[in-house]
Amino acid sequence: MQFLKSLHSKNISLKYLFIRRELATIFNGHQLANKIKREVKEEILLNQSFKSSFSPQFVAIAVGHNPASKIYLEKKQEVAEECGLKGQVIHLSEDTFESKILGLIHDLNEDPSIHGIIVQLPLPLHLSEIQICNAVHPSKDVDGFTQTNLGKLMQKTTESTILPCTALAVKRIVEELKMITLGKNAVVIGRSHNVGLPISIILGADMTKGGFDMTTVSCHRATPTHQLTRACLGADLIVSAAGVPGLVNKYLIKPGSILIDVGLNRIRTAAGKNIVVGDMTKDVNEVAGVVTPVPGGVGPCTVACLMYNTLLAAKLQNL
Ligand code: GUN
Repeated sequence: MQFLKSLHSKNISLKYLFIRRELATIFNGHQLANKIKREVKEEILLNQSFKSSFSPQFVAIAVGHNPASKIYLEKKQEVAEECGLKGQVIHLSEDTFESKILGLIHDLNEDPSIHGIIVQLPLPLHLSEIQICNAVHPSKDVDGFTQTNLGKLMQKTTESTILPCTALAVKRIVEELKMITLGKNAVVIGRSHNVGLPISIILGADMTKGGFDMTTVSCHRATPTHQLTRACLGADLIVSAAGVPGLVNKYLIKPGSILIDVGLNRIRTAAGKNIVVGDMTKDVNEVAGVVTPVPGGVGPCTVACLMYNTLLAAKLQNL
């Protein structure tokens, strides 16, 4: 009280005692995506100057009519064109037999003009995702979803390994931020075999193997809330790939931390508008150091990384 009185007598307003924190930097995913696309385009042109027939091409297989998949595939084709590579989509009806898809993948595996094969997910329920994704030849697996490529990333994550596109996008973002990662703490929320787990492995891997040497904790739907809170409050980097809108808020994070939001959730607002949001609430900007937005963060980088993987696959097959 005495302290407040003395401030008042000196005409010092209380508001000057609280220093307002700067808001977090919003990472521009389009900028990094453009950089990756430029690198891919330049490398294709360079390879064509040595070998004019060098023409990386991917085929995406879409089964059924999933509105979100349709948007993703159109984007993949648009970005392919931007990078100077070819991307085509084969649409199959919802009731296609698994044997027909396996036959198609077999033919594409044998076709030397096709360098990348994508099985767009999700597949209709009567189909086995694991069986179908594993039918893609590992050298053409530009999604990085086969057992072989997921296994390879345990050994190393350097340039010759085809990494799942979202994990590669997160890797590129962390590199772009020039964050000192050695000995720092990371939390990855989500453990899917093609997104959350590969990200955990890359962040925790030895730097000599292309990793980041972070002490990485994997959290998921079975993690008790108090454990998730404890892990996140101690994390220098949080990657959320849970697909749960609003899962990470400002009370869960350490000041100045880096937040990478992989969530892509379609929700309907109270006003009846359909929007896409991530896993993190907007208020994290008040506490974090860097935040990737949704949309416009990881998403564009992931598509650009698919182009990178198609180029890598074509080089591994051709050169
Ligand atoms: N569905 C949603 N994202 C992806 C992706 O990155 N690859 C494939 N194959 N399917 C998806």
